[in-house]
Formats: sequence, C-alpha cells, structure tokens
Amino acid sequence: MKVSIIGAGDVGAQTANEIAGRQIADEVVLVDIVDGLPQGRALDIQQYCPTIDSETKVFGSNSYADTRGSDVVVIVAGSPRKPGMTRDDLLGINKKIVESVTKSVANYSPNAVLLVVTNPVDAMTYAAWKASGFESKRVLGMAGVLDTARLKTLIAEKAGCLFGDIEAMVIGAHGDDMVPMMSHAKIKNRSVTEFLTKNEIDEIIKKTQLASQKIIELTKRSTSFAPAGSIAKMVEAILNDSRDIMPCSAYLEGEYGYKDVYIGVPAVLGKDGVESVIEYELDENEKVMFERSVTHAKENIAKLGFGEMPEKVIDDTKDVEDEKKSTFVSDNMENAISKITADMQKLGNEPDQGSGNVENAKGEKSPISSG
Ligand code: 2OP
Repeated sequence: MKVSIIGAGDVGAQTANEIAGRQIADEVVLVDIVDGLPQGRALDIQQYCPTIDSETKVFGSNSYADTRGSDVVVIVAGSPRKPGMTRDDLLGINKKIVESVTKSVANYSPNAVLLVVTNPVDAMTYAAWKASGFESKRVLGMAGVLDTARLKTLIAEKAGCLFGDIEAMVIGAHGDDMVPMMSHAKIKNRSVTEFLTKNEIDEIIKKTQLASQKIIELTKRSTSFAPAGSIAKMVEAILNDSRDIMPCSAYLEGEYGYKDVYIGVPAVLGKDGVESVIEYELDENEKVMFERSVTHAKENIAKLGFGEMPEKVIDDTKDVEDEKKSTFVSDNMENAISKITADMQKLGNEPDQGSGNVENAKGEKSPISSG
C-alpha cells in the first residue's frame, strides 16, 4: 500500500514518521515545494525504521510524479496558524494551495482517497473535493479524531481514569464551535455525569475547543504530534478497510438534516473513504451547537465561492478580541496572499508532463507550498 503526504512541515513529516513507524503502508512518499526538505526528512525517517523493525520504504520528493498510484494522499500543504490567528484566517491563502495540490495529486492517483488536514479543514476539504472531481466519499477531512483525543485526555485528567476506559466523540466544525457529544460520553460504560459535575464538563468542553490554540501560544508553532497520530489512525482504517467508526469531516447529503457541507460527523471508514455517515441522537444543547457549527462551515465554504451563504451568518458573534486578532492577521495575511498569488501566477496548476514538476517563481521545479 502506498501513502503520499503533501507538505513536509512539522505535521507532514511527523505523519510520515507515524505511518512508517506503525508499518501502516509499504511505501510513504513525502512531497514539498522546498528543495531538500522532503528528501532530508524522508532519509531521517527511513533511518529511524530499523530501530523499530519497520520495513516501510520512505521517499522524499519535489515532484508530484512520485506520488503516482497512491492509495491515500494526505494533504497537509498550506500555511499553519501562528499565535493570535484563528483557523479561519487561513481561508483565502490555503484555498489556492489546496486546489492546486489536489488537481496535481488527483492526476497521478485517480483512485486514491484524499485525506485533507489543511485548515480551516471543513472548507478546505470541500475545496479539495471540488478540485479533485472525485465522488465525495473519497474526499474527507481529519479533525474529529484529533479533537476526540484531546477530549479524552481532559476527561482522563479530571476523572482520574485511563484513556481506554473512555468512550467519547467530538463532531462539528474543527474550530472553537466543535461539538463534544457529552451526552454519549462514558467512563467504563457509565455516563460521565456519574463522575464529573456540570461545571467540570463545561470546563472540559471549553478546554477541548481551545486545546490547539494553547499549544501554539506555548510553542509558537503548529501542533504536530497529536494531529499526526490522528491522521495515521484514519489512514490505517482506510488502508485496512476496517469499517471503524471515527469522526471525520464528511460530505452531508441530508444526514443530520443538512446538505452540501463538509462537517465533522461519525463515519464508517473503509477502503473507499467514508462508507457511510452514522446519525447519533443529539440532545437539545448538542443540536444547537451542531447547527452553529454547520453554519460556520457553510459560511466558510460560501466565502470560497461554493454553496450558499447561510441565512444566519454567525460572524457577528466574534468578540472585540477576535476582531483585533483578525485585523492584525489580515494585514499580514494581505502580504502573504499577494506573495503566494504572485508565485502562483508563475506556477502552472498542472505539473509538466512526465516530470511531475511545476516551474515556481524562482524557476525551480517543485510543487506548491508546504504546511
Ligand atoms: C489542531 O487543532 C492544527 O488544527 C490543528 O491542532
């Protein structure tokens, strides 16, 4: 089995390491725009494999041609969040990157499952689906597995139990309005409400929603270990056709009462991606949270030029702090977007026939930017 990862930054490289280390695939190809980065990181990961008796072959490349015939392509390429940024602040800059990357990898692996990680992931998964021309089930986003891992960590910490004792799941958009389904959360088959007070549960929900931001503010860089482990878990389910139920950003065609949106929902994962969406009973609070989450995702998707802007636009709920953040970021974002746009104008979307390379602004042959 072959897995390609587009973007050799912290998340992409750590994902390649996880997949090789867990021996999930026979071959892992790490691709990036930066000459030498994917090659060097692939060598490092390959030399790690003998220390854990993994026979996985790991390659690094600046060419999409080397992704040919992948079973799964993980798209991490894009700008990561920096302190003070929201995931939504990446919408414009990352759409261009994800669309360009998707068109290229879809060319070389027309039967692959695409697993999108680039943020804001629900909107980016929608953009990748549109750019790929694949049926929606074969394009999905990674978020709920990561958010659920964070929720379990917080429950275990508060309740003093093992991660393995906990049943829990986070659905909805991958953002501050994600929806931990606490009405379904259990510790050793008993409701969490038998172990935690309402205040403790509310605090756990808030901390789950802000978990990534806290890490970014501490380290001043993107998260990587938990995202990489979450991606590897999903890739394993797909390659093994496991039919495991995991939360992922999937395309809704009426499930939970919503259509034409990618949003985090419980899904059966198999060799063709999302085999089916599972509709859990949500309590009244979860229904309200899920509706808000879907509205947020639809709003972002509409900003990309797809679908329709939902009637109830939730932007007005941003507080002054958020406004300040987005103002700060938008100035920087302007510069970043104009630079990417300039580079993109010089890049073809399609790789040169055969070489799989595209000409970049400096005349270097390489694929689009990395995350
Ligand atoms: C996270 O939540 C990067 O969105 C990713 O850590």
